[in-house]
Amino acid sequence: MPKNELDFYEKVKNWDFSNIKRTDESLTNWDLYEILNKNATKESKILDLGTGGGEKVIKYFPQVKEILGTDFSSEMIKTANENLKKSNRQNIKFKQMDNLKMTTENNYFDIVVARHTCIDARQIYDTLKDNGLLIIRGVDKLDCWELKRLFKKGQAYNDIKPISLIDYENIIDAGFKNVELVPIHIREYYKTKEDLLTLLLKTPILLDFSEERENDNLELDIDMELLDKYIKSHTTDKGILLVRRYYGITAQKQ
Ligand SMILES: C[S@@+](CC[C@H](N)C(=O)[O-])C[C@H]1O[C@@H](n2cnc3c(N)ncnc32)[C@H](O)[C@@H]1O
Repeated sequence: MPKNELDFYEKVKNWDFSNIKRTDESLTNWDLYEILNKNATKESKILDLGTGGGEKVIKYFPQVKEILGTDFSSEMIKTANENLKKSNRQNIKFKQMDNLKMTTENNYFDIVVARHTCIDARQIYDTLKDNGLLIIRGVDKLDCWELKRLFKKGQAYNDIKPISLIDYENIIDAGFKNVELVPIHIREYYKTKEDLLTLLLKTPILLDFSEERENDNLELDIDMELLDKYIKSHTTDKGILLVRRYYGITAQKQ
C-alpha cells in the first residue's frame, strides 16, 4: 500500500456523493447488490471490507443476522457510526481494521464484500465459512482512461499489470473455486464542470495510487487548462462524459 494512502482517506471522511449532479448509463449488467441480495439469507453473517462511512451497507445491504463493516480509517468508522445512528438499521456493527491485517474470526462469515478497496485473498479465504461467497467490485486500470492519459497521471496509471488481473489471480491462488472476473463499463454524465471537479477532488482518480510506485504524491493539484480541454471534447447533450471501468469478481470458498 502506498505510504500516505491512509492520510488521504482520513481527510476524505465519507463516501457521500449525493451533492454531485450526474446521470449514468451502464453497458453491462453485473450488479454487486443484486448478487449480494440473491445469495444472502436471514441467517447470513456478512463482512464488508473498506466500508468507508457505511453509506452502502446501510442503504443497500439486506437485513441479515449480522453485518460487520470495517475500515482502516478511524475517521471513516466515526462517520459510519454516526450514519448508523441516524438510520433505523439493526444488526450492523463497524470496527477499525486493516484489510491486509485482518483480525476477524476464521470460518465465520457467509459472505465477504469488498467494494472499491484493497484485499488479501488468503485472509478473506480464512474468515469465510466453507462454501462462503466473496463478492468484489473494483476500480480497474482503464477507469477514466482518457482523462488520466490527458493528465498523464492517476490511479493505476503506471501499473503494468491491471489490478483486476492481480485480484483475479490472487483469488484463484488462495484456493477459491468458481472464480469469475467480469468487466463493468459505465458512462457517467456530469451536469457541470463543478460537479466533475467535486468528484476529482474527492476521489483518488487523478492521484497516483499505484501497485508499481513507492513514493506516491498525494497532493492533488488539478491543471484547469487540461480539465477544460477534457470537458470541451467530452461535452454531450447528456452532460460531460466520463467513462468508468470497474470489474466484478465472485468466488466461493472450497
Ligand atoms: C473508495 S472507498 C470505498 C468505500 C465503500 N466500500 C464504498 O463502496 O462506498 C475505499 C475505502 O477503503 C478503505 N481502505 C483503503 N485501504 C484499506 C485497507 N488497507 N484496510 C482497510 N480499509 C482500507 C478507505 O479508508 C476507504 O474508506
